[in-house]
Amino acid sequence: KRHLVSTADLGRDDALLILDTAEELSQFSGRAVKKLPTLRGRTVVNLFFEDSTRTKTSFEVAEKRLSADVINFSAKGSSVSKGESLKDTALTLQAMGADAVVIRHHASGAPARLAGSDWLHGSVINAGDGTHEHPTQALLDAFTLRRHLNPGAGRDLAGRKVAIVGDILHSRVARSNVHLLTTLGAEVTFVAPPTLLPIGIDTWPCEVSYDLDSVLPKADAVMMLRVQRERMNAAFFPTEREYSRRYGLDGARLARLPEHAIVMHPGPMVRGMEITAEVADSPRCTVVEQVANGVSVRMAVLYLLVGGATLADAPRTTELP
Ligand code: CP
Repeated sequence: KRHLVSTADLGRDDALLILDTAEELSQFSGRAVKKLPTLRGRTVVNLFFEDSTRTKTSFEVAEKRLSADVINFSAKGSSVSKGESLKDTALTLQAMGADAVVIRHHASGAPARLAGSDWLHGSVINAGDGTHEHPTQALLDAFTLRRHLNPGAGRDLAGRKVAIVGDILHSRVARSNVHLLTTLGAEVTFVAPPTLLPIGIDTWPCEVSYDLDSVLPKADAVMMLRVQRERMNAAFFPTEREYSRRYGLDGARLARLPEHAIVMHPGPMVRGMEITAEVADSPRCTVVEQVANGVSVRMAVLYLLVGGATLADAPRTTELP
């Protein structure tokens, strides 16, 4: 496997290999050791057709820590605005010698299209496509859960309960997480108003609830999601007051969680809507830690996919080159 398009494609062993490798690489994510030579002479292109703060920056940091040559490409300011297609953009990047492309695109399926084409010869890594998937976000979420719930290297999240709350309908983070967390043995409950749940949710490997207060006392982690207004018709916007009253996480609801449970958010947060400032700034909220963990996880994905090994046959190293 040269690509990472969907967590649905990741078996348990591959997922654990990425998480364990990220754990080893996390020592290189700090300031003590700045760079590894793994991707020296390789070119990685960050191809972003949609805005990003965390994903784009952390891929760039991860690539540079592995000594790759990095090209940042934003659709804004490129010839995409003149009508250039994904195919011609990809062929142009291939001509420049891209060894890997990290792509974020507003269209669900764009990374799969690239991965299945002969336009590019290198690896394709999905950095979020429409409402479909965001696999490295789910991996950094699983990494964060493992650190807090303490199952240790080589171990999964068996029996852990994760509540994912909010706009499931438009959330690629929810889709990638439900695949990965269930592969790792966790039990996922989606909590949302019926209007923000996808059709066919009953076939997904998760429980569904409309009642946040009843789910919180049993959760090991609660993952709050932003309401993605940019993907909605304005007529369907929930009002902020009504939404936060029923589905927002405030101090009173935080107190309903077990003491060991953590509060997660992929970012960007809308304080006052799905999460209050009090909860966002509380020591139980891992949002900033998730960003830091994202660098280690993305280093691991690049190390395994672009650094020469494949996910299936990479050795389980205890020492890095
Ligand atoms: N979590 C996440 O994907 O954030 P960005 O949109 O800022 O990359």
